[in-house]
Amino acid sequence: MYYSHPHHTLHFLLASSALTHSPLYLQGQTQPAASRRGAAGGSLRAPAKMGEITNVMEYQAIAKQKLPKMAYDYYASAAEDEWTLQENREAFSRILFRPRILIDVSRIDITTSVLGFKISMPIMVAPTAMQKMAHPEGEYATARAASAAGTIMTLSSWATSSVEEVASTGPGIRFFQLYVYKDRKVVEQLVRRAERAGFKAIALTVDTPRLGRREADIKNRFVLPPHLSLKNFEGLDLGKMDQAADSGLASYVAGQIDRTLSWKDVKWLQTITSLPILVKGVITAEDTRLAVENGAAGIIVSNHGARQLDYVPATISALEEVVKAARGQLPVFLDGGVRRGTDVFKALALGAAGIFVGRPVVFALAAAGEAGVSNVLKMLRDEFELTMALSGCTRLADITRNHVVTESDRLRVMPSRL
Ligand code: FNR
Repeated sequence: MYYSHPHHTLHFLLASSALTHSPLYLQGQTQPAASRRGAAGGSLRAPAKMGEITNVMEYQAIAKQKLPKMAYDYYASAAEDEWTLQENREAFSRILFRPRILIDVSRIDITTSVLGFKISMPIMVAPTAMQKMAHPEGEYATARAASAAGTIMTLSSWATSSVEEVASTGPGIRFFQLYVYKDRKVVEQLVRRAERAGFKAIALTVDTPRLGRREADIKNRFVLPPHLSLKNFEGLDLGKMDQAADSGLASYVAGQIDRTLSWKDVKWLQTITSLPILVKGVITAEDTRLAVENGAAGIIVSNHGARQLDYVPATISALEEVVKAARGQLPVFLDGGVRRGTDVFKALALGAAGIFVGRPVVFALAAAGEAGVSNVLKMLRDEFELTMALSGCTRLADITRNHVVTESDRLRVMPSRL
């Protein structure tokens, strides 16, 4: 596997090759990991005025200005050195296009279907917890914006609005993200409630037996503000988070989340619900095969937005390995670092059936509520459609592996030159 090499070795090999003369590509290699700065403390683009926003990343600086430090840091930060956080973005920038020309692109269709549900585009909303810290409308605003855009919203277990409240915002195709609590009665009840509230699938998060070490939250002694609660657990006396000596969320997870979770529980989940189960957090071929064997309906290649284990590869670097191991037996989705329509195209070219966006949604929510989330979805949609046009693709099925060139492609042609 190509990333069994230490990453810097890979960069050195590639940087020494005359094959890699793209300035964009070199930009990704020449920056040593140690000098890269994480999102919580790192430099941001100057905030655009609200009417001047031209890409989804510009909401981050506005969110930083608007939000209390504890809330902003919770949304922006990631685990430890935040190496994977940077890498989730940089790995996209090392994938280049091989566009086709002189193809009639006057009509472009980006509709698709996910688990049998027809949606307007292969761009969906990832589960992000506690959205009412970003905006008073929180998950309601996100649900309305996703529904208006004709796409899927995934609601976090740790939402500050309940499954019933989100369902009451109106029609929409929604998935429910599940954290498995030690108390399985709690899990059973919650899954049943989600099912009754019309949620169409369970996204089972499997990368969080313990919470990753998010140093910004530790420094801030992060805790959910007292006027909010984890609404899905309110009636169960698990809706509040106590102040702790470090991160209140890390302590909550240590107290409530089941560290024994294993593949047999994926089977168990299928006995308590008929909803399809997406396994969220797979990044290896080995686990892909186990997901297939254990009845998953799909896989989300995710490193939790780099908030769990630092120094895992970018999701876009892990995608192909998973797609190959899945052998078309289930759909493979991706999240992590998707900020441009070009990123969406790259993920689809490498075999993803669709992508999910996390942070841009919360930053836009903080900046402009529902209108902000709508604008994020619109900008990604428009950029993606333009990328299709400029690559000579009129339907998602036209996007092929030959439309992109990756690091591993370049490595394959290198040995004779070493
Ligand atoms: C998350 N993520 C997450 N995942 C999950 O399964 N349950 C959750 O409650 C949360 N909460 C959460 C909060 C915040 C603030 C962030 C940034 C992320 C992970 C999320 O679903 C997704 O995997 C990443 O956010 C995708 O990466 P990007 O788009 O943020 O780079």
